[in-house]
Order: sequence, then C-alpha cells, then structure tokens
Amino acid sequence: MEFTALVLLVVAPYFSALASPRDGCGQRFLVAPPGTSRIVGGREAPEGAWPWQVSIQIQSRHHCGGTIVSSLMVLTATHCFHKYMKISRSHFRVVAGLNLLSAPGNQTQIRSIREVQMHKDFNTATSDNDVTLVLLSSPFKFSDHIQPVCTPHNVTHEFILNFSHCFITGWGSSYYRGTLKNRLQEAQVELIDRRTCNLITWYGGIITENMICAGLESGASDSCQGDSGGPLQCYSEDEDRFYVVGVTSFGHMCGLRRRPGVYARTSRFAGWLNRSQTASASAAHRLNTRLISALLCAALIHQQ
Ligand SMILES: *[C@@H]1O[C@H](CO)[C@@H](O)[C@H](O)[C@H]1NC(C)=O
Ligand SMILES: *[C@@H]1O[C@H](CO)[C@@H](O)[C@H](O)[C@H]1NC(C)=O
Ligand SMILES: *[C@@H]1O[C@H](CO)[C@@H](O)[C@H](O)[C@H]1NC(C)=O
Ligand SMILES: *[C@@H]1O[C@H](CO)[C@@H](O)[C@H](O)[C@H]1NC(C)=O
Repeated sequence: MEFTALVLLVVAPYFSALASPRDGCGQRFLVAPPGTSRIVGGREAPEGAWPWQVSIQIQSRHHCGGTIVSSLMVLTATHCFHKYMKISRSHFRVVAGLNLLSAPGNQTQIRSIREVQMHKDFNTATSDNDVTLVLLSSPFKFSDHIQPVCTPHNVTHEFILNFSHCFITGWGSSYYRGTLKNRLQEAQVELIDRRTCNLITWYGGIITENMICAGLESGASDSCQGDSGGPLQCYSEDEDRFYVVGVTSFGHMCGLRRRPGVYARTSRFAGWLNRSQTASASAAHRLNTRLISALLCAALIHQQ
C-alpha cells in the first residue's frame, strides 16, 4: 500500500498539469501593472516581472528565449531548433524563474525536453510559421517567479483585447551578433500594423499574415533588446493580464528606422497551439495511464 501511495504522489503532478492548462494566466505577482508612464528604451527587468520567460539552453549556455504557455509547454521559434536537429535533445534544457543568467537563484527550475513540435509549414526562406512547442519532461511548479502567459484565442480576440502596453524581453540580441546580457532586459514597443510594415520603404512585402511587427515609433535602437524565440507580450487593462502576442522571429537590425522586430503572430496559431497541446497532453496522459496501470499492478502483486 505504501508503494501505491508513493506512485500516486509521483504521478499526481502530471494530472493537475493536464487538468487545468489555462487556469490563471498572464498574471505577475511581484511587479505592479504597467503604469501610464512609458519606459523609453530598454532596461533591466525587475525580478519576477516576466514569470513566463524562459531560457532555452544548449549545454547550459543560453540559446533562445521561450514562453511558458502551460506547466508542460513552452512556446518558442522554429528557427531555434531547425538548424540544431542534429544536437541531441539531452544537451538542451529549459530554465524558468531566471533573471541573472550567471546566477540562477533558488526560484529557478530546470527541465529537460521530452519532445519538440516544430510547425510543419515553417519556411526557412521567409520565416513564415516560425513557431514551435517544446514539451517538457516534467511540469514546472508555478510560483511567484514562474507563471504561464495567456494566448489570444484568435485574431478577433487579439483585436478586442485592445492592448495598451507591449514589451519585448530577453537576454540580448544574441542570435545575430551582440553579446548576451547577464540580466533579463525589457523594452516597451508599439504594435505596427502589417500594411505599414510592408510598405516599400519598410519591409517591402515580406511580412505575411502570420507575422506581426513591433518596435518604437522613433526607430530608436531599442528593438534589438529582443531575443529569438522569446515573447512579445502585451497587457490587457480590462483583464489585468498579459498575453503573448508574438514570438521573436527576425529583424533585429538594431537602430535602423523602419525595420522593427518581426514576430510570429500567436493569434494566427491558436488552432495549431490548441491541437498541438491537446495531442501532447493526451499522449502524456496515455503514457501516464499506462505507467499508473503498470505500477498499480506491480503494487497489487507486491501486496499479495
Ligand atoms: C531563496 O533565497 C532568498 C534569499 O537568498 C530567501 O529569502 C528565500 O527564503 C529563499 N527561498 C526559498 C524557497 O528557499
Ligand atoms: C474568437 O475568440 C473570441 C474570444 O474567445 C470568441 O468569442 C469568438 O467567438 C472567436 N471567434 C471565432 C471566429 O472563432
Ligand atoms: C482601448 O484602450 C484605450 C486606452 O488605452 C481607450 O481609450 C479606448 O477607448 C479602448 N477602446 C475600446 C474599444 O475599449
Ligand atoms: C482547445 O479548444 C477547445 C475548444 O475550443 C477547448 O475546449 C480546449 O480547452 C482547448 N484546449 C487547449 C489546450 O487550449
């Protein structure tokens, strides 16, 4: 019997993780909502300001950002994995509750990767569909420092939410050149409509419906504060929550006017996110059901 109790104790977190993937999202408990005053330029993020931000690492080195969408799932960019398929999954890890890269605190949780679901229509030439879901080996335990973000249900929903403040976060413009920042950075940005972003003097038509542009009106250098795979997150005043509106994809040419950051537009991937999450959840569920049956069986035999 002791054995059975132990088994249930070990398996229980999986069930709670699967049962309520959307309960309470997009809230931060350690930092006040964005105020009316706008932050100009990038700056160091306060501790606990972005509890859904993770660092995806290869051999313990920061590789890409990511966003917690449920206790078992992290949303990131496909280009973070596409060229790295030859690297064994076991060299990757996902670190949450992190502010200082060099000094993970006691709030930090580290998970390995069970599965990587790249969007099958990712286009390396155009960066269209640059979204990937990472399934973790075991769920994060949510805390003040680790929380899931909300995801818009569809494009209309994104519009209705009437976002007032949007931010990009990351440990630096690592993907292209710059050196990593040790402390997580944040910068406020404006969403830029696709028509403007596609003007001939801007991106000249390469921005697809699955992308969203965000940057500063001034074209100041701050949009390089982003980090591949990490979130473009916006605050809904009505709901007092943050939503992940974009996944950092390309365009970090710091300081160039009319070249804002380009992000995979999450509202266009709501169906894909739902299907992928549901599929993984049921796969994990099947696995755990089998595991439990096997263990219960063993426990019963053990009892006799
Ligand atoms: C984590 O560390 C801080 C300061 O070092 C301490 O105040 C806090 O109690 C610790 N929390 C846990 C859960 O150990
Ligand atoms: C979009 O999402 C909103 C909010 O969840 C919902 O009310 C609406 O029915 C959805 N629209 C479509 C076309 O699915
Ligand atoms: C959207 O938010 C702005 C303030 O940020 C407000 O002035 C406006 O009325 C809102 N629009 C809707 C449709 O709620
Ligand atoms: C997927 O969509 C269905 C129907 O809209 C909803 O009931 C379910 O909660 C969603 N699942 C996830 C994981 O978002």
